[in-house]
Amino acid sequence: MAAPKAAAEPHRERRWREFHERPLEEKLPLFFRDGALYDCLFSQQFTRESLDRLCTLADRMRSITKEKSGDDFLQSLLSNKRAMLYFSQPSTRTFLSFSSACHILGLRVLEIRDLKTSSVVKGESLDDTIRTFSSYVDLVIMRHHEPGFVERASWGLNGTQRPVPVINAGSGADQHPTQALLDIYTLNRYLQGGLDGKRILMVGDLKRGRTVRSLAYLLKNYTGIHLSFAAPDAFRMQPDILDFLNRHDIPYEETDDLLAAVEKADAVYMTRIQDEHDKSSGDSKKIDTSLFHFTQKHLDRLPENGIILHPLPRRDEISPEIDDDRRAVYWRQERNGMWIRAALIATIFGLEAKILAKK
Ligand code: NCD
Repeated sequence: MAAPKAAAEPHRERRWREFHERPLEEKLPLFFRDGALYDCLFSQQFTRESLDRLCTLADRMRSITKEKSGDDFLQSLLSNKRAMLYFSQPSTRTFLSFSSACHILGLRVLEIRDLKTSSVVKGESLDDTIRTFSSYVDLVIMRHHEPGFVERASWGLNGTQRPVPVINAGSGADQHPTQALLDIYTLNRYLQGGLDGKRILMVGDLKRGRTVRSLAYLLKNYTGIHLSFAAPDAFRMQPDILDFLNRHDIPYEETDDLLAAVEKADAVYMTRIQDEHDKSSGDSKKIDTSLFHFTQKHLDRLPENGIILHPLPRRDEISPEIDDDRRAVYWRQERNGMWIRAALIATIFGLEAKILAKK
């Protein structure tokens, strides 16, 4: 009997695979339109110039809203547009800060947070669901558990008669570029003299934490950066990021000695163990991670001008008592997320010059 033939790959799947496998540098220009940012999918899309501009715009929007007339002005800018927040994974602050960012610009928001309430349960493909969004909204902000899915959504929408921009609000354990934007904004605001020349220490689950991955990519835009990584053996920073740092001549070290690393750090970036990914990489509850918790003794050794960041949510890697120290900036970091996301949306809709010109 002849061996059964392997099932042919459907045409669309093949086209997507061929696109997805292209080197990122080749694809990056496709996420811009007329030289302006359109889809925000990867940290590698940002340059020093675009980061500086976003931070300036976020500062400006922040100060404009202090007056009611300024707030009304911003809200008039996108009041004819709608955004879809499509979140297939849990989220508190990314969801709320994006929704608030939309409100700042007057964008009305539609949301799907539970795929069980969409037609996916009737057997509709995710491709078709995403395509449906473009019939109703002007921007898709998307968090998805599969690493490549947000890129696939942008690829799918770009080929339709009504393409709309897509923002990655977290794609599996891969990237979370807008978190990295708010981290950069926060580092620049609270590090004396800005980010250039600073030592950043990343702690926790560096293997599966998408925030540290995206931030590492963005840090190549700053000069004189030094990185330290402190993680349990099972959760060390992955070779693709180390390779990226080597290619960009960014010095880094890996260490188990959190206390000594904190003493030398300008910024400590804490993360939680990402046990939602345990299925694919063992049971993290069996691993002792207590050596990578930030406690009073670490605080005592942190330089006077040092700062502590955390993308949140936290578990026990930072105890709430640390919050009272002025160097703990993670609650301000959370609020910064709303402003930088508002600046990002304004940039995508070509509003930067208009906002900066506002008296
Ligand atoms: C992070 C995430 O979702 O990756 N949270 C966030 O967006 N603020 C970090 C985390 O969940 O640990």
